[in-house]
Amino acid sequence: QELQLNLEQIEKGGYDHFMLKEIYEQPQVIRDTFRGRLLSDQGLIKMAGIEDNLAKFINAKRIIIVACGTSWHAAQVAEYMIEEFARIPVEVEYASEFRYRNPIIHTDDVVLAISQSGETADTLAAIKLAKEKGAFVFGVCNVVGSSISRETHAGAYTHAGPEIGVASTKAFTTQITVLALIALRLAKAKGTMSQPDYLRNLIELELIPEKVQEALLENDRILEIAHIYKDAANCLFLGRGFNFPVALEGALKLKEISYIHAEGYPAAEMKHGPIALIDENMPVIVIAPQQNHYDKVVSNIQEIKARSGKIIALVSKGDQQVRNLADHIIEMPHSTEALTSIIATIPLQLLSYHVAVLRGTNVDQPRNLAKSVTVE
Ligand code: G6P
Repeated sequence: QELQLNLEQIEKGGYDHFMLKEIYEQPQVIRDTFRGRLLSDQGLIKMAGIEDNLAKFINAKRIIIVACGTSWHAAQVAEYMIEEFARIPVEVEYASEFRYRNPIIHTDDVVLAISQSGETADTLAAIKLAKEKGAFVFGVCNVVGSSISRETHAGAYTHAGPEIGVASTKAFTTQITVLALIALRLAKAKGTMSQPDYLRNLIELELIPEKVQEALLENDRILEIAHIYKDAANCLFLGRGFNFPVALEGALKLKEISYIHAEGYPAAEMKHGPIALIDENMPVIVIAPQQNHYDKVVSNIQEIKARSGKIIALVSKGDQQVRNLADHIIEMPHSTEALTSIIATIPLQLLSYHVAVLRGTNVDQPRNLAKSVTVE
C-alpha cells in the first residue's frame, strides 16, 4: 500500500494531481508535437501522413471531422483553421450522431477523426462507416498503436505523452498544434495563404511553448479568483471566432471536475438566451484578446456588466479597456487569432483545477466519467 502511494507520488512528479502535472507539461509536449515537423527556417512543414496523401486533401470537396468530448472541441478549432487558411469546407460532427444518421459521404470527402485515446467507440464506428462509404480517413491520435490509429488510412500523432487525468488538458492543446500544422500545410499546397502570412504563422507556432509558459505564470492570480467563485452554482464561458470552441472547452473542464454547471457560448449568441441567467451571482468568463472581434467582445462585456454579472476576462497583455470593465482580468501573451486558442485554454484549465481542488472533488478521477469511453 505504502509502496503504491510512493509510486504514484513519483509519477505525479511533485504535483498534487496528474491534471496539474499535465497542465504544466504543455510547453514541452507542444514542442514535442511540432519537433521535426515544423521547419520554420526553411519555411516547411513536414508530416509524412499528409505528404503521402496531399492530393487527397487538396482535391477534397470537403473535410468532415468526427470526434467526441474535448477532441470535438479541437475539431471546432480545426474547422476555423482549415477553412480560413486552406479554404476547404469543413463540417464537424459528434461521432455518435454521425454514425447513426445515415450521413452523406462521398468518395472525394476526407474524414478526419480526432481522439486522444484512439479507443472511443463512437469515433471508431464513425471511421468504419466512412471507410465503407469509400472516404479517405485520416486520424489524429495520441496513443500510439491504438485502435483508431490502426483503423485509419493514415494519420498524425500528437506527442502529448500519457494523459492520466480524466479531464483532458495537454491532449487538447497538442491536438490543436497538429491541426494547425495540417491547416498550414494545406494552405501552402493550395496557395490560399500569402507566403509572408504563412511564414509568420510558422514562426508564431514555434513561439507557442514559450507563450504557454508565460500564461502559466498567472497561476496565483487564477487561484485567487477560484477562491472567490468556488461556490458558484452556474458559470458562463464566452468567446468568439477561434475562441468560441475554447469557451466550450472551458465550460466542459469546469463541469467535469468541479461539478459546477457551466455553459460555453459564442459571445454574441448570449443575447438569444443565456443573458436571461445573468445576475450578480453569475460569474462570466470572457475570452477577450485584442484581435478581430475585440470591440464586439467589449460590448458583450458591457451587456454583462449592465446586468451585474461578475466578469472574469482573459485579455491580451497590457489591455486597458477591458481591465476597466471587468471584475478580474487574467493576462495572456499576444499571438495570432488562431493560435491564441491554445494560449487561452491554459488559464481556463487552471481555473477549473483550482475550483475543483477547493471544492474537494476527485480531480483526476471525477465521478461518473471515464478516461476513454470504449462502449456506447
Ligand atoms: C471521454 C474523456 C474525455 C475525452 C472524450 C473523447 O469523455 O473523459 O476527456 O475528450 O472521452 O476521448 P478521445 O480519447 O476520443 O479523445
